[in-house]
Amino acid sequence: MDGDGETLANLLREERRFPPPPEMAAAANAGEDAFRAADADGDAFWAAAAARLEWAEPWTQVRDWSRAPFARWFTGGRLNVAANCLDRHVRDGRGDRVAFHWEGEPGDTRTLTYADLKDEVCRAANALLELGVRAGDRVALYMPMIPETVVAMLACARIGAPHTVVFGGFSAEALRGRILDCDARVVVTADGGYRKGAASALKPAVDEALEQCPDVRSVLVVRRTGQDVGWTDGRDVWWHDLVGAQPAEHEPEAFDAEHPLYIMYTSGTTARPKGILHTTGGYLTQVAWSHWAVFDIKPEQDVYWTAADIGWVTGHSYIVYGPLANGVTSVLYEGTPDTPHQGRWWEIVQKYGVTILYCAPTAIRTFMKWGEEIPGRFDLSSLRLLGSVGEPINPEAWMWYRHAIGSDRCPVVDTWWQTETGAHMISPLPGAATLKPGSALRALPGIRAEVVDDTGKPVPNGSGGYLVLTEPWPSMLRTIWGDEQRYIDTYWSRFPGYYFAGDGAKKDEDGDIWLLGRVDDVMNVSGHRISTTEVESALVSHPRVAEAAVVGAADATTGQGIVAFVILRGDGGGDTPDGELAAKLRAHVAKEIGPIARPRQILVVGELPKTRSGKIMRRLLRDIAENRPLGDVTTLTDSSVMDAIRDGLPAAA
Ligand code: WT7
Repeated sequence: MDGDGETLANLLREERRFPPPPEMAAAANAGEDAFRAADADGDAFWAAAAARLEWAEPWTQVRDWSRAPFARWFTGGRLNVAANCLDRHVRDGRGDRVAFHWEGEPGDTRTLTYADLKDEVCRAANALLELGVRAGDRVALYMPMIPETVVAMLACARIGAPHTVVFGGFSAEALRGRILDCDARVVVTADGGYRKGAASALKPAVDEALEQCPDVRSVLVVRRTGQDVGWTDGRDVWWHDLVGAQPAEHEPEAFDAEHPLYIMYTSGTTARPKGILHTTGGYLTQVAWSHWAVFDIKPEQDVYWTAADIGWVTGHSYIVYGPLANGVTSVLYEGTPDTPHQGRWWEIVQKYGVTILYCAPTAIRTFMKWGEEIPGRFDLSSLRLLGSVGEPINPEAWMWYRHAIGSDRCPVVDTWWQTETGAHMISPLPGAATLKPGSALRALPGIRAEVVDDTGKPVPNGSGGYLVLTEPWPSMLRTIWGDEQRYIDTYWSRFPGYYFAGDGAKKDEDGDIWLLGRVDDVMNVSGHRISTTEVESALVSHPRVAEAAVVGAADATTGQGIVAFVILRGDGGGDTPDGELAAKLRAHVAKEIGPIARPRQILVVGELPKTRSGKIMRRLLRDIAENRPLGDVTTLTDSSVMDAIRDGLPAAA
């Protein structure tokens, strides 16, 4: 949080205000009435939200917090998530509505109606059953952005087998760790997917990961690119052979509201990713309600697009479960924003008449860099609402988004949430809120957020502190897979009774919330969480590295960039980095974790700044990485270390 003083002061000088467009206010799905209802009776509010879904058995209790911090929601209720996302729409005459306009990166397309998707999901559910998958068994997915990814997730949900989707950009090593942690026995993957104009392989990473996962018995492989793949007979089976041969009928079974739906791994402050567990009834309730309210979804008219990867929670909640539960038409795009040209997103908006776009500030800042003439070449008049997620959006990026993409008409909703929260927590409701560029405003109806000081006391308006959530919410994580103690320690111990989000925040004079970024050793690169320790462990696993310290430094495009300070082993210590070694170390991190974790900069140093108790003072390294005068160095064992580091660095550092 160092250096935030200035950021804070700048943010609080932000005085532009944008009231809701009158047409949107007049027809809004949710507004002040929702806040009033939730304030009057939170349980009744969430019960009404749950009633938007179809339950096979009613619940007997809305929230059970008697075993806090282990929550149960909608106790006794039973439902099937896939049937809620598909079957009821088909049954009620919405089968012909398009569920997904899928656009492959090379320009191939597929249109899937709700009826098509239901048939495919039933086939895939039958295929998983044939592979021996039963309710409760974990299935790992390592997929590109293709319709089969959605199909596989819903097929798992349909038979009650929790999925764990591993982002296709992660390494074999990362995949292996996740498969082992949740003990998945079946993996669904593809030969590859298209990225940056070329086929990018996935299957080799699965093969490599499985060399050390003896319990995985089946790998279901989608043919997407047609590239050559290695094959293990008896283990590997083609999706088109197995799924294609199945009947399109499958009777969905209703599962308990607390039945596990999925595990999503995310970085914490240690090297080992945490398996965040989400369950069925509360998750779908809040995801569906928030999607409907925050994006003001009108299922008959809207064409909704979350431009994110399904391998992150954003994709789970707002590409798959929320949009399908609400029966809206979505866009699903496989590739990168600049393939084959920098206007690709805007071409897609124009082609499908996208009305609501949801993406990350890092993308917005990239588009800013490319220039507003690029979106200016396309007809974006279908857009009516814009959303932002993943990291703090600076007021200038917010203004650019509203202006260059939203033609100065579309509200921008800045949605704060996390893998752990499952759904939006702090966000404007676009038909009700007067927007402030850069602020997520206040907690949504039914959600309680606070900003507290070191001792857990709420700070007065105009001050900053730590963001906490003071009441349980339906889509909250239930635990960390296999590690209840870590769940308690990570989220519920810093401020007893409150959920500690790990973010710094400020309340302005109106009590509205401004998010300021992580306060722990977690970096946020392009809206993705990466732990400093995870990258440090990867670096130290390289034979040339003796010690490493990693910090997130402000980056104009990606929010934060990873800067690594390394001490080399033996002869190399104290050298200036030769470019070749730095390149090798960057590649090593990419191989260990994935390309998103590749450091922006690697600096070789002779020593690291440490406190007397031996803790690395990342704060000082961040000062260096961000070109700031050093903060307080009095707790350093040896303050000359910092001079040595600074003197030894290339000018650009
Ligand atoms: C962390 C959660 C939520 C899905 C994508 C990321 C940061 C998220 C915002 C926002 C400021 C934000 C926080 C949070 N973050 N949204 N609107 N404004 N910061 O999910 O990987 O679990 O990361 O992302 O630091 O703690 P995630």
